[in-house]
Amino acid sequence: MTISFAPLEGITGYIFRNLHHEMFPGADSYYTPFWASTVDSPLAGRGLSDMLPENNQDIPVIPQLLTNQAAAFLPAARMLRDMGYEEVNLNLGCPSGTVFSKKKGSGFLTQPQEMDRFFHEVFSADLGIKVSVKTRVGADSPEEWADILAVYDRYPIHELTIHPRIRKDFYKGEVRMETFRYAAEHTGLPLCYNGDLNSAQDCRDFFVAFPSVTHVMAGRGFVANPALARELKGGPALNKAELQTFHDRLVAAYQETLFGDRPVLGKMKELWFYMGVMFQGADKPLKAIRKAKSLSDYSFAAQALFRDCDLIPGGKFYQD
Ligand SMILES: Cc1cc2nc3c(=O)[nH]c(=O)nc-3n(C[C@H](O)[C@H](O)[C@H](O)COP(=O)(O)O)c2cc1C
Repeated sequence: MTISFAPLEGITGYIFRNLHHEMFPGADSYYTPFWASTVDSPLAGRGLSDMLPENNQDIPVIPQLLTNQAAAFLPAARMLRDMGYEEVNLNLGCPSGTVFSKKKGSGFLTQPQEMDRFFHEVFSADLGIKVSVKTRVGADSPEEWADILAVYDRYPIHELTIHPRIRKDFYKGEVRMETFRYAAEHTGLPLCYNGDLNSAQDCRDFFVAFPSVTHVMAGRGFVANPALARELKGGPALNKAELQTFHDRLVAAYQETLFGDRPVLGKMKELWFYMGVMFQGADKPLKAIRKAKSLSDYSFAAQALFRDCDLIPGGKFYQD
């Protein structure tokens, strides 16, 4: 039974990852947010610094790339292999408009023949690093899924993580469990499940429903409750004091690495979108957090929330 921290662009970068791994051990691996590899820039900039081994010491990390060109993927994968990574993950799920219109992420799912060519090139190369895939089950309709899965099935993909939504769903609505079940029954590839596992109990229920699948990945629910993996493995539930320490140390770590208040504020406000649901009666301080224009306003509001609001017993992230 293994649980990974899903990649969340803008949230689970190496600063967050290091602190999370130190304070809430339990995740078996962390996927990095994607780096959009191109032929001219297979791996550089922010993506490279997020994946550098010195920024991820003693953390089980699986780097993720986003591209639809083997000529961009291969050099990036080789760089990662040379850094010591054993696995690289390909993003075939990102629903964002710019990514989709370039036929990358979930956009690539609309082109099964090109996908087939891509994988043929990738798996024909002597890469020396395992290639895993994180996918949605279609772009416009779940009817696309059987053909997409048939492409994956032709290749020795190390593991297929399935987020059973189509691109049009973005992150909302019920997950389409029948498409995951179809995969569990029709492919020989090792599977990992991702989607709406927001508590340890959600994970346990999943493992009961799919006893042949031993790997799950959690994202938003894991950000809301950083102790989710610890709880799944029999450890204590999240408590407010440790969440506050995590929060305060995260603010300090972002202040050290980001330039100025604004990016720190942006990161922390996004975090509260998830963490806020864990607290009872937190509407007022959450509003003050959202409205804060300086770090001192922000800190005042965040400290008020921790002081005045308690964690909801058994609380978990939910999507409106
Ligand atoms: C803000 C945000 C950023 C995300 N960034 C990535 C990413 O970089 N790579 C990726 O594969 N998925 C990304 N995802 C999708 C998540 O990894 C995950 O598949 C999705 O949130 C569903 O899982 P969950 O219900 O456990 O959150 C992102 C999702 C969100 C909400």
